Amino acid sequence: MKNQFLSSASAVLILSLLTSNAMANECSVTVESNDAMQFNLKSMVVPKTCSKFSITLTHTGKMPKSAMGHNLVVSKTSDMAAISKDGIGAGVANDYLKPQDSRVLAHTKLIGGGESTTIELVVAQLKAGESYSYFCSFPGHVSLMKGSVNLGS
Ligand code: CO
Repeated sequence: MKNQFLSSASAVLILSLLTSNAMANECSVTVESNDAMQFNLKSMVVPKTCSKFSITLTHTGKMPKSAMGHNLVVSKTSDMAAISKDGIGAGVANDYLKPQDSRVLAHTKLIGGGESTTIELVVAQLKAGESYSYFCSFPGHVSLMKGSVNLGS
């Protein structure tokens, strides 16, 4: 009887530790990028209860940003191709994004191997029923480096 009580008390403790850990991470995500032109995530969920959602981009590779630079840009999925195309002309000095592009909801700077950067997405910009994506605007990367941004409950 005593053992049974202790084991269920332990189970509750472990469960509450896991839950509080998950809650603490709810308004943030980390996305890894690498020298093989990949993100390690295909989608992210942004809870609508978060006012700001923190996105950290890391680059686990060794190549410089001039050769294998990555950024993370959030926009409507329907704007992704045009933002990427305009970004090529903006050049590396502008992190391959047209300055003041109003279609961009949030973006990190361009980083190279070994670097990381964090931004905050204002969640109120995301409307239910709209399709959003994140992608890298380095020339030629958007075809491989993209994923969906889903508004959660
Ligand atoms: Co890239």
